[in-house]
Amino acid sequence: MAVSKDLRKNVMILRAQIAHHNELYHGQDSPEISDAAFDELLRKLKEIEAKYPELIEESSPTQIIGSGFTTFDPVTHRVPMTSLDNAMDTNELQAWGERLVKGLGNVAMRFACELKIDGLALSIRYENGVLVQAATRGDGKVGEDVTANILTISVVPKKLVSSSGKKIPSVLEVRGEVYMSIAAFENLRVAKQNENEKRVTEGKKPETVPANPRNAGAGSLRQKNPAITATRELSFWAYQLGEVVGAPNFSSHTETFDYLRDLGFPINAEAKTVDSLTQVVEFVEKCEANRHKLDYEIDGVVVKLDDLAQREQLGFTARAPRWAIAVKFAPEERNTILKNISVSIGRTGRATPFAELEPVVLSGSTVSMATLHNREQVQLKDVRPGDTVVVRKAGDVIPEVVGPVLALRPKNSKPWKFPTTCVCDLKSTFVQLEGESDTRCVEPECPFQRDQRIIHFASRGAMDIEGLGEKNSFLRYLTKTSSPISVICIH
Ligand code: IVH
Repeated sequence: MAVSKDLRKNVMILRAQIAHHNELYHGQDSPEISDAAFDELLRKLKEIEAKYPELIEESSPTQIIGSGFTTFDPVTHRVPMTSLDNAMDTNELQAWGERLVKGLGNVAMRFACELKIDGLALSIRYENGVLVQAATRGDGKVGEDVTANILTISVVPKKLVSSSGKKIPSVLEVRGEVYMSIAAFENLRVAKQNENEKRVTEGKKPETVPANPRNAGAGSLRQKNPAITATRELSFWAYQLGEVVGAPNFSSHTETFDYLRDLGFPINAEAKTVDSLTQVVEFVEKCEANRHKLDYEIDGVVVKLDDLAQREQLGFTARAPRWAIAVKFAPEERNTILKNISVSIGRTGRATPFAELEPVVLSGSTVSMATLHNREQVQLKDVRPGDTVVVRKAGDVIPEVVGPVLALRPKNSKPWKFPTTCVCDLKSTFVQLEGESDTRCVEPECPFQRDQRIIHFASRGAMDIEGLGEKNSFLRYLTKTSSPISVICIH
């Protein structure tokens, strides 16, 4: 089939979009779109290129990794740091399994299953047992020299010592993921928010607070001043080898893990080797169900063939190894449009701002509203109707607006102002007491408060009245007429 002009144009647009987002993600650590949205763009491009191979160019993002943007000294990786292909569901994992059988024949296979840590890939080089260089992945061929910053991470061995008395190799490159734990991220976030509160009271603009541990980790790793990185409590998991000279010959990934553990590298304890794809699926399901019990963020599971000879046989595509795949979890964070900010009234009169969103699917469910907590939070996050915002729903937790994507803010947008009067027909003036973060409606007759009191009264924890609850009361926000609950109660 001939390639139409429109299709060529679409491909060019897709490539430009991917290059732009690659640059923001790898170069500036400030992504505008979620990983899922980025993967989707790449998938679309791959699909078209698979159908029309004549459109493939060496410069296409499907053929290269990362953006190549560097501000630190460049480091050429002696062994390239490739990316991984993704499987978005079990069918895609099975399809990978079929490709393995095609390449290797019907042989026994063992699969090393590891958590996919949501951090930054790093290659650490040791010469005669001494850490001499640490580099980011960059575009896979050339990364950035972040040695001074990595030396501040306590869990990274600076000098190799074998606990079983093994010989130290003359060259050993250990690859793994630098990440910020959730606890460290919370500490950083609280510190930044306190700084911002101070800035706001001094009439200064609040500074951007990192949206998630990954962004916080990336920002910390790329600090020009290692003293700042040292305060950020970064961590590291080792998961792969790069260049190696003078180490024993390993026959399996499991053996390399044993070796790395022996040399003092942190190896994630959740890693497990299994015998079949059915067991891989079980591992993935268990990890996804338990992901929030961990003190670090993961966004999937990486599955690797355990046998190194089998890996050798399969080799690499232009972008990734054929012997490994990343099974991605349903995304928990996405960008969407903030259509409006409204205020809901609780049973004690507390006025809680919430975001009305262009619906997005997060953690497998559609989210169209998210809490904004209180007046200060809206001010500090400076989210405005019309903004593209990052929304997050982690597991069963209430969806939250993380912050605006400033690069996509419409011109002429104005900061949102908290209403001065209650949303109810009585229009009583809101009150915020000195030193309190909550704003309240103090009108005892406020029908919204009354509805919430009735809901509370009828709830499972109190009188447990079936058929009387939030759903009925919510009609009130939609119709703004008299409360359906009060009608039920009066009769
Ligand atoms: S192995 C040749 N193992 O995922 C294989 N990668 O999407 C190289 N990642 O660039 C990667 N956890 O930053 C591997 N247990 C793990 C991982 C992992 C997270 C990251 C890594 C890589 C990206 C690919």
